[in-house]
Amino acid sequence: MPKWLKNAVFYEIYPQSFQDTNGDGIGDFQGIIDRLDYIKELGCNAIWMNPCFDSPFTDAGYDVRDYYMAAPRYGTNEDLKRLFDEVHKRGMHLILDLVPGHTSIDCKWFQESMKAEENVYSHRYIWSDSIWEGFEGINNITGSIRGISDRNGSCATNFFSTQPALNYGFAKPSKPWQSAADSQEAMATRQAMKDIMAFWLGLGCDGFRVDMAASLVKGDEDGKANIALWNDIRAFLDEQFPEAAIVSEWGQPDQSLKGGFHMDFLLHFGPSRYLDLFRTEHPYFSREGKGNIKAFTDKYQEYVDSTNGKGLICIPSSNHDMPRLGGLLDEEEIKLVFAFLMSMPGAPFVYYGDEIGMRYQKDLRSVEGGFDRTGTRTPMQWNSGVNAGFSSAAPERLYISIDPDPNRPTVEAQMHTEGSLWKEVQKLIVLRMEHPALQSSAPVRFLYAQEHAYPFVYIREQEEEKILVLINPSSKDASCNIEITDNGQVLYSNHGTAFCENGTWNVPAESATFIRL
Ligand code: NOJ
Repeated sequence: MPKWLKNAVFYEIYPQSFQDTNGDGIGDFQGIIDRLDYIKELGCNAIWMNPCFDSPFTDAGYDVRDYYMAAPRYGTNEDLKRLFDEVHKRGMHLILDLVPGHTSIDCKWFQESMKAEENVYSHRYIWSDSIWEGFEGINNITGSIRGISDRNGSCATNFFSTQPALNYGFAKPSKPWQSAADSQEAMATRQAMKDIMAFWLGLGCDGFRVDMAASLVKGDEDGKANIALWNDIRAFLDEQFPEAAIVSEWGQPDQSLKGGFHMDFLLHFGPSRYLDLFRTEHPYFSREGKGNIKAFTDKYQEYVDSTNGKGLICIPSSNHDMPRLGGLLDEEEIKLVFAFLMSMPGAPFVYYGDEIGMRYQKDLRSVEGGFDRTGTRTPMQWNSGVNAGFSSAAPERLYISIDPDPNRPTVEAQMHTEGSLWKEVQKLIVLRMEHPALQSSAPVRFLYAQEHAYPFVYIREQEEEKILVLINPSSKDASCNIEITDNGQVLYSNHGTAFCENGTWNVPAESATFIRL
């Protein structure tokens, strides 16, 4: 495990919407450089930046045209290198978004692959033998591209119909056109991806968030073939770039961490029960108090048990694919979300703007394949100036329009207001950085996590330090009995302090307390 993951707290930047410095209405690398001190002041020491490579942007950059070139709208490769350097100067790390499962239709590899004449890219993608034969029912294939190539055959897609699937083979090939996962052509694709990783790591990035990591080998029902593939890539990294970190968009740590990923996300899809926390009809962290934390902790415990402490399970505040916390929960509720995120194992991921409770914008017209995700990708709200300080462009030229509410939250206002969400998030990150028991690898033990009940209590332990966390998001005071009855030293409390009396813990409504035992 790279050393820097021990206490990494990530900040996710969607580069389009973070900070524009050249007035074109779209964020850029210079804008990110200008805001690094801000991210550092918040307390985050690592950054995940969404795709920034050359692309026609039919899926916000998850449709790469050239893996070796920064998208000109963000800057040049030299600017990106400067960003890495500026990040490192501040003792921080930055991971890029690697999209290994598919490219853009405009990618040179695909243009070559479509040709009738056999060439080195003919098998770079998954093609059937005949235009009339598709891929219905094959796991990890979403559809097909047909009728636009000179060669005969349909090409599998990995996500949108503009995203042809790269060929990493099939777990159990059953047709002549299906390569084995260790065939020459599948290994050539794998090598191409390793070369891309080596290129950017060589330039100074610190690792990758890996898009749709479980999707590469097709027809892989139990995930074993993809696990094997990623173990091979991890071995390559360990040998050549031991400080490089990889985090998967997999959503099943029981598989991904066995595949050698250092970290995996709990996500809004898949079996992880992440949605029970903040995003179901009755989320646990809502003050209405009807949530079910046990559904979450049971699954979480299963993941911990099956991975035996190997790798990190990461809980994001939101990301660019799901509704923001702001809009689902209010500022006071979100403070408790952060008390939870900053006191759980794994590396926390803060989606830009969640630290001020930026709100999901409903009913926006889709931008760059965002569809309902567009409302989560609006420009960062820095201040009360023009375009909330995001850009000097005319408002109609902005990448996505800004939250029109005159009372929209801003960084400037919250950084200067005692008791703001921003201040609370900062306080919680500082606390995490000061206490090894709160950091990534210290185990968690759930002490009170009952079906449809409040509070939620767990303990984090590392060497000499033990920290008890008691959270009650509901609007009613709650109590519980656990094995610990020591009032200890209060390290943090928000909205009242939990205390133990006659063997029973009393946890005030809408509160969070951290106690050192
Ligand atoms: C997951 C990414 O997070 C999402 O934004 C993208 O559209 C798909 N993968 C396809 O790459």
